[in-house]
Amino acid sequence: MTTADPRADLKAVESLLAFWAEAGVDAAYAEEPIDRVAEGKARLLARPAAPAPPAAVSRGRAAAPQPDIAAGLAEARALAAAAGDLEALAAAIAAFDGCGLKREGATQAVFARGNPNAELMIVGEGPGADEDRQGKPFVGRAGQLLDRMLKAAGLEDRVFITNTVFWRPPGNRTPTPAEQAVCAPFVERAIELVKPQMLMFAGGASAKAMLKVDEGILSLRGRWFDWKAETGDGHALPAMPTLHPAFLLRQPAAKKKAWIDLLTLTERLDRPSRPH
Ligand code: URA
Repeated sequence: MTTADPRADLKAVESLLAFWAEAGVDAAYAEEPIDRVAEGKARLLARPAAPAPPAAVSRGRAAAPQPDIAAGLAEARALAAAAGDLEALAAAIAAFDGCGLKREGATQAVFARGNPNAELMIVGEGPGADEDRQGKPFVGRAGQLLDRMLKAAGLEDRVFITNTVFWRPPGNRTPTPAEQAVCAPFVERAIELVKPQMLMFAGGASAKAMLKVDEGILSLRGRWFDWKAETGDGHALPAMPTLHPAFLLRQPAAKKKAWIDLLTLTERLDRPSRPH
């Protein structure tokens, strides 16, 4: 709504921005990433042809290189396969340059935390600002809530926690499927090395990438899936998507659903295995 006095409008906008800044919103992004390179290209193509600039001018600053997904994926697979333990895997991830997120403002790679012999592996979406600062996943407010839930379920020492991508997406946007795909060989190798009995996917972005499905988290959560590595022996692991703890912070009424999911997982972990 606008008022007759433009200064009042300005004050209202300033107050709204101050409110969002207070709430921790430090950048404005759309739901989906916008490919500015493609947009610029389309605009250039739509323009009538301009005379070619002199050679000296056309050698100006080049556009940022777009990561080559196929090459990145091949490199990630080779690096992940060569990592003999979790320490080597962490080093391989830190040295990997094939994920575009690494060049979008992240300060370091964020790999994993928890028990290297965990029975349950939790895969989240991607690091946020706190994780980027500390170099460990799920250490911010959402992570603290996750830890409280794990403790209440008696799982705090039985989990290994990682994410679908290892660098903070700018402005905490959702990682793109390409960014997740190029990091997937490292996630798979982590699963191979830890050998958990079960997987839990925190949030829709993780569940969709890990299960290669396109359903919303509210329909995926609480259901059992068979997760299989892209490469490997075809051995399936039971996996359950659940609500992301950051969502639970925004929607506390949904905690009951996430708690039920965690108890269902715990009950299956503790179930004595039946002889075949
Ligand atoms: N959200 C995630 O998905 N992962 C983290 O590590 C932190 C917040």
